[in-house]
Amino acid sequence: MSAIAVTGSSGRLGRMLVPMLTLAGHDVRTMSRRDGAGDHTVDLRTGRGLDEALRGVETVVHLATSNGSADTTMTRTLTAATERSQTSHLVLLSIVGVDRIPLAYYRHKLAAEQIVLNSRTPATVLRATQFHELLDAFFHAQRRLPLRLAPALPVQPIAARDVAQRITALVAQLPAGRQPDLGGPQQITWSEASALWGAAHRPRQRSITIRVPGATARAIRDGHGLVPGPAHGELSYTDHVRAAAEQADGER
Ligand SMILES: NC(=O)c1ccc[n+]([C@@H]2O[C@H](COP(=O)([O-])OP(=O)(O)OC[C@H]3O[C@@H](n4cnc5c(N)ncnc54)[C@H](OP(=O)(O)O)[C@@H]3O)[C@@H](O)[C@H]2O)c1
Repeated sequence: MSAIAVTGSSGRLGRMLVPMLTLAGHDVRTMSRRDGAGDHTVDLRTGRGLDEALRGVETVVHLATSNGSADTTMTRTLTAATERSQTSHLVLLSIVGVDRIPLAYYRHKLAAEQIVLNSRTPATVLRATQFHELLDAFFHAQRRLPLRLAPALPVQPIAARDVAQRITALVAQLPAGRQPDLGGPQQITWSEASALWGAAHRPRQRSITIRVPGATARAIRDGHGLVPGPAHGELSYTDHVRAAAEQADGER
């Protein structure tokens, strides 16, 4: 099995992916900007520590994100390093709709895709919809407010575990360019997701549906953040929330 370096290994998805890759028999190298938080201390904005982290590595899975404009720079720094190294496969995770939804963050994510696909390092690019864990964080952040706000916009959340499973399959294959998009098994609205989350975690907090104006909301309402078709992740948001509530009950 091969040596795999994972950027963003301390993030929501990275924490699920690393044990899965290890279980699949790979020699996994983790990276973080924080000393001691990964096998290698790496800052993708500056490239500090990157060449050392990629030494002897065949595959790089790029999950690091600034959740903002630095994603373009970080990806350019990474591809320059993979081209200097022995890396034979670079896998990037991106977001469904980055080419159709006019969010500034998505513009940088789309640029990152293009940098990776145009790099001399052979690449695979997968787009996924929002993770269950991202929705949870959005609702959890509002837990102490009297009301919980959620937009009347569609979403097709997917378990980070299901995305990690797909990436584990992709690293075992040859570089294959852009892959079919990956979404969750259930299309709901953020306000429906809020009701599900609230029933499990904050039954007394009211959930308020808000209407969001503007071009970004229109593109999301038009379904550009969704993945039509049958072949998607296994765990629905409904089942994810139910399982989390049962676990919390069990721990009380
Ligand atoms: N969350 C979603 O719903 C979702 C949906 C579809 C696609 N995606 C994509 O999936 C990927 C992973 O998302 P996530 O939610 O797991 O991310 P996350 O939890 O926000 O984690 C971001 C990671 O990036 C690392 N990072 C940030 N700046 C860095 C820098 N300058 N140098 C090196 N590492 C840096 C952080 O590591 P340290 O802080 O330890 O340095 C952290 O591990 C991202 O590319 C994201 O765009 C996410």
